[in-house]
Amino acid sequence: MAYTLYPLKSIPANLVSRIAEIHMGDAGLLTKLGYPFVLRYFEGALTDKDSFGFFAKDEETGEIMGFSLASPQPSALTSKLTEEKIWFIRNIFKVMFTKPLAFLQMVISSVTIRGQMYEPNTIECVYFTVDPKFRGRGLGRTLQNALVEKGRELGYKKIYASVETWNIASLKATQANGFKIIKTFREGIYFRHRLERELKEA
Ligand SMILES: CC(C)(COP(=O)(O)OP(=O)(O)OC[C@H]1O[C@@H](n2cnc3c(N)ncnc32)[C@H](O)[C@@H]1OP(=O)(O)O)[C@@H](O)C(=O)NCCC(=O)NCCS
Repeated sequence: MAYTLYPLKSIPANLVSRIAEIHMGDAGLLTKLGYPFVLRYFEGALTDKDSFGFFAKDEETGEIMGFSLASPQPSALTSKLTEEKIWFIRNIFKVMFTKPLAFLQMVISSVTIRGQMYEPNTIECVYFTVDPKFRGRGLGRTLQNALVEKGRELGYKKIYASVETWNIASLKATQANGFKIIKTFREGIYFRHRLERELKEA
């Protein structure tokens, strides 16, 4: 499998939808809200000044195989979903009526996020997702490790990730990248581990 990693923000605008499609393979809340939210989220993330990430491109076919995204302020990325009020109200109403459980989870998660303490010099590995065709061959781990290396280069002190307890592939990749489980907590229907890794020597 020959591929190259590129900075996520260098992706051509017409391929952002491919990132959103790949992300639909993630089982989290954003996916449950539906494709329009996923696409809008990544369009916002790519214009956010502090977020960064990578995408992997198959050198033979040019296909995008997976991506990773990190941010020092993940809530700023979610907030971008509400920036265009009419779009947000129209789409959130659809979610309320067609996916009431996802709506309820969104309310619970936004309260939980507000309760989390902001940690300076810390980034979150917000997402890393690999197209199912390319899973199980080390790409997820490589994409996440690229966030670790870039985070260190940018001078951040710590990186953390929130991984659902059932998500063995993500847990294994994250632990192989040097993250340690700090705590396990509940967020609505989700049971998650918080994993952290120091980026600077003490
Ligand atoms: C998580 C994800 C990115 C991992 O990508 P990947 O390219 O398949 O992962 P890797 O090949 O780097 O594998 C990482 C480890 O998980 C193991 N693994 C991969 N798939 C697995 C599976 N389905 N079950 C158990 N272990 C698995 C690998 O053997 C490897 O372990 P090792 O280091 O001991 O060999 C991918 O499964 C995915 O896109 N999942 C959906 C999105 C998601 O859940 N993202 C993470 C959100 S926190």
